[in-house]
Amino acid sequence: MIDVERVSKSYRRGAAQIPVLRGLSCHVPQGAFAFIVGPSGSGKSTLLYLMGALEVPDSGAIRLAGESLGDMPPQRKDDLRRRRIGFVFQSFNLLSNLDAVDNVLVPFLPTGEAAQRRPEAVDLLRDVGLGDRLDHRPSQLSGGEQQRVAIARALLKQPDLILADEPTGELDSATGHEIFALLRRLQAERGTTVVTVTHDHRYIRQEDLVLRIQDGVIVPSEAS
Ligand SMILES: Nc1ncnc2c1ncn2[C@@H]1O[C@H](COP(=O)(O)OP(=O)(O)OP(=O)(O)O)[C@@H](O)[C@H]1O
Ligand SMILES: [Mg+2]
Repeated sequence: MIDVERVSKSYRRGAAQIPVLRGLSCHVPQGAFAFIVGPSGSGKSTLLYLMGALEVPDSGAIRLAGESLGDMPPQRKDDLRRRRIGFVFQSFNLLSNLDAVDNVLVPFLPTGEAAQRRPEAVDLLRDVGLGDRLDHRPSQLSGGEQQRVAIARALLKQPDLILADEPTGELDSATGHEIFALLRRLQAERGTTVVTVTHDHRYIRQEDLVLRIQDGVIVPSEAS
């Protein structure tokens, strides 16, 4: 599903160039449940954004389902991001003037499919336990509820790949477990590939793929 080959990425800070990823390679098979772990600042979000074609590596190659992102025309990349990948960011990226249902429908507003997708959006919100919060705006929802809206939005696309950056970062552990139960159900039932950044090793299971970043590369990791 995802092949990362000798990818390097550095950021400029003032005059200095700070290397973050240093020839990092990894492979996430189709249908895997994968975690990116490592110390703060080690490049976990950077790797996730590279996998989602939201960032471009300085060198090295990334392939999604056999297709090289480097060679991909911008429009095809856009299409991939919009239709095939479900992103869940730590800052939920909800629009404050829209209610829960409309926030879930946001990706489909530009394509004119929102009205047609509405019943499905409502079903998904029920699935994530927000059936009685459909017309609430983000300011009327708790952090965990907002995160669940963001997840429902990612799921409405029926993506092949879900990329989640600390989806439970600000949630209590009961809600955190619910979120992971939902992601795992999706992986089991639809074969969705899931890659999640987390600091919380309690969510990692023996059979999961663990990508541990240290000093800019993946190091061998005993699960959990
Ligand atoms: N746009 C940017 N410009 C400059 N430096 C950046 C940028 N994005 C990330 N960095 C730096 O790159 C390094 C890796 O950042 P990244 O966000 O990938 O870390 P992380 O492992 O996700 O950390 P955390 O666990 O704290 O979220 C950090 O030192 C960060 O300051
Ligand atoms: Mg991060």
